[in-house]
Amino acid sequence: MLNETINFLNIKSNGVYIDATLGGGGLSENILKKLDNNGKLISIDIDQDAIDYCKKKFENEKKIQIFKCNFIEIPKVLKELKINKVDGICMDLGVSSHQIDCAKRGFSYIHDAPLDMRMSQSGKSAYDIINFTEESKLSNIIWKFGEEKFSKLIAKSICQKRKIKKIETTLELAKIIQNAIPKHFAGHPAKKTFQAIRISVNNELENLDISLDNCIKLLNSGGRLAVLSFHSLEDRIVKQKMKFWEKTCICPPNAPLCTCSKKKEIIIINKKAITANGNEVENNPRSKSAKLRICEKI
Ligand SMILES: C[S@@+](CC[C@H](N)C(=O)[O-])C[C@H]1O[C@@H](n2cnc3c(N)ncnc32)[C@H](O)[C@@H]1O
Repeated sequence: MLNETINFLNIKSNGVYIDATLGGGGLSENILKKLDNNGKLISIDIDQDAIDYCKKKFENEKKIQIFKCNFIEIPKVLKELKINKVDGICMDLGVSSHQIDCAKRGFSYIHDAPLDMRMSQSGKSAYDIINFTEESKLSNIIWKFGEEKFSKLIAKSICQKRKIKKIETTLELAKIIQNAIPKHFAGHPAKKTFQAIRISVNNELENLDISLDNCIKLLNSGGRLAVLSFHSLEDRIVKQKMKFWEKTCICPPNAPLCTCSKKKEIIIINKKAITANGNEVENNPRSKSAKLRICEKI
């Protein structure tokens, strides 16, 4: 989906762009290829590993500025740089391959590691949520952010086990989940719960919600926002935001006159989310659930 994201951004060689989720720098690298010496790229990530890796990767590249922060802070970054508006923003949501593959980060239910899952490597970790959240709240997190129908059973089992001994590692948690639910056939039994805990640890949906509203305000007319999401909860937020921004009126349907003063802010470029083709899914199974949505500021 990298090529599609770059193409749909419609990059102007002298424009100013933001990569809000730098990761391993794949998207940033391709944006840079399209910029001339008057163009500028501001790349952001919350994870120090991504920042260190990309500072090295782009050490000879003058058009990029790299910031370690949460993407909800984009307005602050632009203020610091004395930039009012930009020509395009891309977000490639979720965890990076590095975060998943680096066992000690504790994102994976395949590798054994301390329960962590913090993209920022600071604040509350998965260990804190698993061991100290009240049962009903834990069940709610697993249901809401994992859409796991066995959330109650899983939360109950976690709370029983942690009375005996704190749950410390990813594999301990994965085993508790596996034993808590009826035999599973599709996918790994811990997949949904791990997703839920990760979303909760990193406040992912709230950050996305706030950032999308920030981003749309920061685009120049003709500027584009491209968002690549990896599960339905994220995609739903992106889809609903774009639908709202596109509306010309938000008055109740039976109102005799329009009094809302809502203006159409964008054009949706792709009515249906773009998904990966068969070849890409074969080469990169993670792309199977990817959905790309793009809009253009009026
Ligand atoms: C899927 S990866 C991006 C991969 C990247 N596009 C590439 O080409 O390598 C997502 C990245 O977004 C970062 N991230 C997630 N939430 C963030 C947030 N709220 N603020 C800043 N970075 C965030 C993660 O740390 C991760 O490195």
